[in-house]
Amino acid sequence: MLRAEAVAAIRAASDLKSLEGVRVHYLGRSGQISLISEKMRDVAKDDRPRVGKLLNQLRQDVSDSLAERERQLKAAKDARELSQIDITLPGTRRELGSIHPLTQLLDKAVRVFRRLGFALADGPDIETEWHCFDALNTPPDHPARNELDTFYLPDGRLLRTHTSTVQIRVMESQGPPVRVIAPGAAYRRDEVDATHLSQFTQMEGLFVDRNVSLADLKGTLEFLFRELFGPETKIRFRPHFFPFTEPSYEIDIRAEALGGDWMELAGCGMVDPAVFDQICAKRGDRAYDPEEITGFAFGFGLDRLAMSLARIPDIRMLTENDLRFLKQF
Ligand code: DAH
Repeated sequence: MLRAEAVAAIRAASDLKSLEGVRVHYLGRSGQISLISEKMRDVAKDDRPRVGKLLNQLRQDVSDSLAERERQLKAAKDARELSQIDITLPGTRRELGSIHPLTQLLDKAVRVFRRLGFALADGPDIETEWHCFDALNTPPDHPARNELDTFYLPDGRLLRTHTSTVQIRVMESQGPPVRVIAPGAAYRRDEVDATHLSQFTQMEGLFVDRNVSLADLKGTLEFLFRELFGPETKIRFRPHFFPFTEPSYEIDIRAEALGGDWMELAGCGMVDPAVFDQICAKRGDRAYDPEEITGFAFGFGLDRLAMSLARIPDIRMLTENDLRFLKQF
């Protein structure tokens, strides 16, 4: 009988693949049971309901047997695979990482600036001389442009020596008011030692609007440094010179968190009208007309700050990726 034959074949199937072969043989489109169904045409009309019912029953029984065998085979396969696994082995440990001290400081500073309404901006590390120097009012014979100090590419571009380039990028592409910070890498041809790397990290800031004053600059930076290093932090503005600001200052701060000594920290000043003139010429409009608007800018290095905060004696530790060092933070 077909039913007995089918059930025997199903039981005999020893894996899922041969079981599928059996299914096709009996239930497939041109399988045994389908072939019989076609013969219904020849059955006498009175007998058809009875024969049809038997046929349906047969199809059902074969399907049930197939499903049951499939379940058995899958269970057997799972059991086989499980038996290969030693559940007493220790698991794979995931080591907890820690955040790099430089990133910690950067994140903190960004959060403070966000509260003051500054947005993040960035620009390319490979820059044109114009963005790095000319637009920033730095004359062709300025020592910073020397090949001994700056990495030049064969095509005349260079690795930016400071993040002040981003000031120019931002003003080229958007009108005032501007309120941005730009953290990023800067590059100089320094001899690498305990306090110098050829790549370091700076944070640039630019604020341009009508009636921006030196008081806004001082207020902003004092707020930043007291938030970062504590309310007792002392801040000193020393007159200085930068080509792109006038007047210009260097900022020293003194904080217990930084070891308690005065530390030279940042450059800043009011954006020089000559910079605005360069931007106007490049944009071809008067959006940054120095008669109408003013602005302040600042820039400071993050590496030495992070080192003082975390009492790191050698700047090279920041980039060597030694886990024994990194795990301490
Ligand atoms: N770019 C200067 C440097 O790398 C730092 C600086 C000074 C940035 C004064 C400024 C600024 O935006 O106004 O030494």
